[in-house]
Amino acid sequence: MCAPAGQHGVFEVNYFPVFFNLADQKVLVVGGGDVALRKVALLKRTGACITVIAPRIHADLLARAAAGALEVGVRDFIPEDLDGARLVIVATSRRAVNRWIASLCESRGIPVNVVDDREASRFIVPAIIDRDPVLVAISTGGASPVLARRLRERVEASIPKKIGEFALWLRALRRPAQRILHNVAARRRFFEELIDGPAARRFAAGDAQGAQRISRQMLARASGPRARGEVTLVGAGPGDPELLTLKALRALQDADVILHDRLVPSGVLDLARRDAALICVGKAAGSAGSTQAEINALLIEYARQGKRVVRLKGGDPFIFGRGGEELQALARAQIGFSVIPGVTAAAGCAAYAGIPLTHRDYAHSVTLVTGHADEDFKEPDWTALAQPATTAVFYMGLARIEHIAAKLKEHGAPASRPAAIIAQGTLPHQRVITGTLADIGAAASRAQVESPALLLVGEVVSLHAALAWFNNEVPADVSQSA
Ligand SMILES: C[S@@+](CC[C@H](N)C(=O)[O-])C[C@H]1O[C@@H](n2cnc3c(N)ncnc32)[C@H](O)[C@@H]1O
Repeated sequence: MCAPAGQHGVFEVNYFPVFFNLADQKVLVVGGGDVALRKVALLKRTGACITVIAPRIHADLLARAAAGALEVGVRDFIPEDLDGARLVIVATSRRAVNRWIASLCESRGIPVNVVDDREASRFIVPAIIDRDPVLVAISTGGASPVLARRLRERVEASIPKKIGEFALWLRALRRPAQRILHNVAARRRFFEELIDGPAARRFAAGDAQGAQRISRQMLARASGPRARGEVTLVGAGPGDPELLTLKALRALQDADVILHDRLVPSGVLDLARRDAALICVGKAAGSAGSTQAEINALLIEYARQGKRVVRLKGGDPFIFGRGGEELQALARAQIGFSVIPGVTAAAGCAAYAGIPLTHRDYAHSVTLVTGHADEDFKEPDWTALAQPATTAVFYMGLARIEHIAAKLKEHGAPASRPAAIIAQGTLPHQRVITGTLADIGAAASRAQVESPALLLVGEVVSLHAALAWFNNEVPADVSQSA
């Protein structure tokens, strides 16, 4: 039984992408012009047995037929031509004839493509990049062949020239890898490391022998006593997934297990490998969540199972992220680790709010401060933070905004010093509320700001009015948000 159409009567995927093995299969091409010539050239590479039928046939096709590469019938199409065909391409210049042939194919269940007539076609032919055996097919579902070609050009530029040879080399390595590494996960890891590592670089540089030598060493290492897993501490940035570093992206795509904070947005988690286990260990504001000791224990446990573990944190792991504490625990447990920095909230939010953290006319230093108040809370150096020509960025300070403003004023900052709250920074719902130390607390409660939010204090905040750019934002000051 057919599946029902989705919402609005359309299916989520209009075409099912497959790569069809046509070796020794009869393929019929009806039409004998330039288009047929191009289709035959492509089909020929698949080993298909091609028959071309048309009253007039391109000289090149006739020459190929004379050389035994295909069969031709210099005449009009007749329905019996379809006998035994596994695939049909119709490319005559007469639309009515094309459609009639297409309907005959449909009634016989033979997949048919009518050139430039998507409605009459059962399948469409994608734009391809052919670096045998690597074949990349791109389709816009018939919406725009020009867009498909443009995409192909872009993808083509990013694919190494020797990718075909590289794929053949990898194919040759499969047998030895199967012989030596009996476990599927170990083989997958071996190939991932091979493709991302120095062996691939050697191969791309033309040193196939060097690549082979490295691959042998890697196989020997991988088959030794089971390698221990390791943990990569990864900064996910403040929210916009496009602020991830390339290294972070690769770590996400390589990880077996990802332990992430609650603040890491789904757009970032979507970039993880599909079969990676995603475990949220974050705390919602005010809720218990996992304790730090529990998180450390999980990291160690998964690493000891030989897994590649990513500990994914919002912003940068070393800035109010307890990254240091987690690494200390790993070091004590003798688990290998590495760190991939991320864009910290201060840098990301300030950039997206059009507030330069330093500026030669306004601020010569910037200080990142925690505004969080727990039992260990120690008051920061308010005198230093209240100095002119400095920018103070308070993380986790929303709940104590009145206290922070009062302390800064008490230590010499003028009540007129500009201040801003940036909530949901870098995300589509980013909000920027500006004011001064005198009124920023009231503005925050009026605007019902929700976390995560940063408080920025300093003369640089005055630049927001002129430099706001994200979301075509109209700068909002206190008077507007009132
Ligand atoms: C536990 S700290 C983690 C900071 C993180 N490691 C970093 O480098 O950005 C969480 C605080 O960072 C700030 N923050 C994180 N993401 C933010 C965002 N998208 N917008 C505004 N503030 C954010 C908020 O002050 C939040 O309470």
